Formats: sequence, structure tokens, C-alpha cells
Amino acid sequence: MATSEDGQADVVVVGAGVIGLAVGWRLQGAGLSTVVVDPDPGGGASHVAAGMLAPVGELAYGEEELLALGIDSARRWPAFAEEVAAASDLPVGYVAAGTLHVAADAGDYAYLEDLWRFHGSLGLDSTLLSTRECREREPLLAPGVRGGFFAAGDHQVDNRLLLAALAEAVRRSGAALVRHSVAGIDVAGDRATGVTLDDGRTITAGHVVLAAGWRSGTLAGLPPGAVPPVRPVKGQLLRLESAASGLALRQTLRGLVNGRPVYLVPRASGELLLGATSEEMPATDASRSGAVRILLDDALRVFPAVDETSFVASEAAMRPGSPDNRPLIGPAGLDGLVLATGHYRGGILLAPMTADLVAGCLVSGATAVPSIPASCSPGRFAERPFSKDEATSRRRPPVTERS
Ligand code: GLY
Repeated sequence: MATSEDGQADVVVVGAGVIGLAVGWRLQGAGLSTVVVDPDPGGGASHVAAGMLAPVGELAYGEEELLALGIDSARRWPAFAEEVAAASDLPVGYVAAGTLHVAADAGDYAYLEDLWRFHGSLGLDSTLLSTRECREREPLLAPGVRGGFFAAGDHQVDNRLLLAALAEAVRRSGAALVRHSVAGIDVAGDRATGVTLDDGRTITAGHVVLAAGWRSGTLAGLPPGAVPPVRPVKGQLLRLESAASGLALRQTLRGLVNGRPVYLVPRASGELLLGATSEEMPATDASRSGAVRILLDDALRVFPAVDETSFVASEAAMRPGSPDNRPLIGPAGLDGLVLATGHYRGGILLAPMTADLVAGCLVSGATAVPSIPASCSPGRFAERPFSKDEATSRRRPPVTERS
């Protein structure tokens, strides 16, 4: 098939967040004519992110399968960063400096120490640190900090630089980037055949890759058994500027404060990102004042220099949560449909692996890519059909922070 403006391609990718862009770039590069559709490429949760590549620090008890996916993708990151930068001639801001986790008090330290033991039982790279050792790594820590651990392999990328570079790489690859909303997935018989845009035009394709973040569960046209079980989970993040104060962090700092996690991610530019909430609620991009207060209070408990930064913005976006916090990658309950969604808090981290796995599904003769791991295969939810109403109406009390 021809790529194109004429509404035909081998693959149409719905969504141009980090996942859709990475997938579209990989597919076009592998020889499949690809159209990526999004009204706001590089927007949404990918834009309102801190770019942490932190499978160890974000490990929660019982989420060992998600950890394995994260470690797999983290290993792909150095080559992926180089490849995107070379393909776009743009920087991506990949920084390999590790992450320091600190406890605000003795109770928080007990939790971190337990977590560090859990890391040890899984053979992860995590080093327990005394208060003094934490301060050696980060001299401006608050006086009350009570020790922590260092995750040497948890790095960061500047998500906004990355998104700009990926969009340029997509453009240079020859894939089409169409700035429209998708009104619905087109299905003929038992097969996805393309998409209809909000202006009524259609793009027909051999395969549809659904990478529309939390909206993946809301698109019209899919039969009930093929609707991915993703829901919106709000994340709110603060953008601060620390350059004028001269009080910069040396590495990403994650604090545990009264049991609540908070993270501070320094950029080379002097920007300091402070996040993030995780709130189960209907989709909105409105910032909540109470979240700003809690994020600032908790950050100050571990890094008082936050008081000297300039407040730039509070931003919010909806992450795509799945029932088990793991992504859905691969063929779904409809021929021609491939999912690349449900990445929840790990979209940036999991982008290289997701793009490779989707390419492995669609590029005939691809042998270098392993098949889809069962832990992220959509088939694990086959027994649990999900309705579009559920994607938008599942409501729980707002929760600030969880990692
Ligand atoms: N991965 C960090 C966050 O979602 O807040």
C-alpha cells in the first residue's frame, strides 16, 4: 500500500504521545507505510511527565512483572536515545545519574529500608545509605532527612526534548503525522480496517495500532470484547525554575514523606520538576490547589531549597491506568487491531520496548524481537470484557500520591 495523504497505509497509529510516536517511527523505519493520527502530537500525559526511567525506584510490592518490563525497556534506553537523536538531529536529554531516595522521618526510613531489602531479594541495584551518605550525594538535603537508598540504574530523559525529537524523526522517516482526532475505529466483518477522522475522512489500513493513552478505552467502533480496559488516572506536576537560586540538585531525588512519595527531577537548564499526584477521577487537565500545596510541602521536607525556586506552572494530565498497572501491548480481540496502551506511570520508560514489540508483531519476518511477554499481552484480560462507560465513569475518591 502507499503511504499517505490519500487515506491508505499499511498501518494507522491512533495517538502521538511518546508511545504512538515511537511505534510510528519504528514501523515506518521497518518498511511499513505508517500514518500517525493525533490532534495534539506530543501532548497529553507524555507532555506532563518528568521523564524518569526508574524501574527500581517505582517498584511496588506485588508488581514484579511490571518491574521486569521496566528493566527490559531501561536496557534499551541508551541505544534508543542515541538512535532518536541521530534520526532527528535533536537532543533528547538522556541523563544517566541514578536516583537518590530519602526518608523524611524514622517511619519513612523503616519503609525504605524494607523496600531496599525487597530490592536485594530480587537482585536489583540498590544501595542502603545512612543520613551522612545521603548528604554526601546531595549536600542540600533537609536537616531532618533520615537516610535512604540509591538506585544507580534509575535515570531520566527530558520528555519534552524527546517528544520533539521523536516527532522530527517520524517526519524524516516518511511517516505521515495527521493532526486530527479519530472519531472512531472502522470495523468490517471481524476486522479493524482503519479509522474515521473528525472531519469525516477515512484512513484505511491493514492494521490499526491503538496508542491513544486513556482515550484508548473510549473510541467508538470497537466491539465490546476489543475495548481495552484503560481508565484515566490524573497526574499533577509542578514546574519550578532553580537556575537563579544556584541551589541545584545533583541527581533525581525521591522523598518519602509521611508515607507519601514525592519526586524532584532537575534538568540541565535549571528547570526543576516536582511531582506527582495519582488521582482516580474523571478526566480533567485542571490543576487542584490542594495538590500544589501537598507537593510543595512534601518537597520542602526533603529539599528546602524549593522555597528559593520560581514557580512556573502547575500542570495535569490523565495517565492510562490498566487493572494491574501493566501495559497492554500486542494483538487484541479483533483481527487487524494491535494495542499499545495502558502504560500508566511508565509510558516514557516503556516506549522503546513497546515500539520494538509492536514492530515484532507487524513486520513480517522480524526475528530479532521476542514475542509479546504474557505479562503485557492484552489476552490476559480476555475473560473480562470492558465497556466504554467503564473507561469514563469509574470513580474512586481522589488519592494524592502513590508509587
Ligand atoms: N513515572 C512517574 C509518574 O507517573 O509520576
